[in-house]
Amino acid sequence: MKVLILDTAEAAIDRSATILLDVVRRKPASVLGLATGGTMLPLYDRVVSRHAAEGVSFAGVTTFNLDEYIGLGPDHIGSYHHYMRKALFDRIDIDIRLTHLPRGDAPDPTAEAEAYERRIEAAGGIDLQLLGIGRNGHIGFNEPTSSLASRTRIKTLTDDTRQANRAYFDSLADTPRFAITMGVGTILATRACLLLATGAAKAPAVARMIEGPVSAACPATALQLHRQVTVVLDRAAAAELSLRDYYEHIHPNGAESDFG
Ligand code: GLP
Repeated sequence: MKVLILDTAEAAIDRSATILLDVVRRKPASVLGLATGGTMLPLYDRVVSRHAAEGVSFAGVTTFNLDEYIGLGPDHIGSYHHYMRKALFDRIDIDIRLTHLPRGDAPDPTAEAEAYERRIEAAGGIDLQLLGIGRNGHIGFNEPTSSLASRTRIKTLTDDTRQANRAYFDSLADTPRFAITMGVGTILATRACLLLATGAAKAPAVARMIEGPVSAACPATALQLHRQVTVVLDRAAAAELSLRDYYEHIHPNGAESDFG
């Protein structure tokens, strides 16, 4: 794992935007895996402003989001379809027909999950998967004890996750209980991952992910088995890493090392 520690959240967001934009610059027909959540909003803002300023086009890019709530149609204000349109798709030159999220209102969610997995394969797999991390160590909606070999499927959300996402809904009772999510195995099959975490609330999960034992109890630890993961952190999210000095020695201020 490449661990890049930046002084501020703003610097971590900018560094992440650079990594994502470089992938699109190098391969204009990239397949990107996208994430949602509060952490990603300032990153998408940065991508929007920089893609225009730097002339990076998303016209040939295909995207697959990690997850969607079951029971919500694409126009529901709490859905990830809605989130993605507002945060990114409506603000860049992407072809909306090349953007994909699981349909939360599919009549048969299991069939939808299986079809989603096949759509990713048909697109040739994911070049760069963007990830956040839940306070309980989830990636996508792969809650603790998710199989590390899992593929896109239905997951029941934990109370902690529902509490964390409650702000996007009228009440806890209105907060969805189930989601369709790419599996841990789906994420491990991507060619590269970029995980962004900012703020002190994420520090314990970040430390477990990078330095803890690989375990389904903390699904993000599965990323230790992926060959190409970059973790971008601000100082607050990096606070509980025991080898922090080592990471900063290799990548001062988030710079690439001499060997990449
Ligand atoms: C959500 C999403 C994840 C996201 C995580 C953290 O439940 N399914 O993809 O990484 O929780 O969200 P936030 O960035 O709001 O803390």
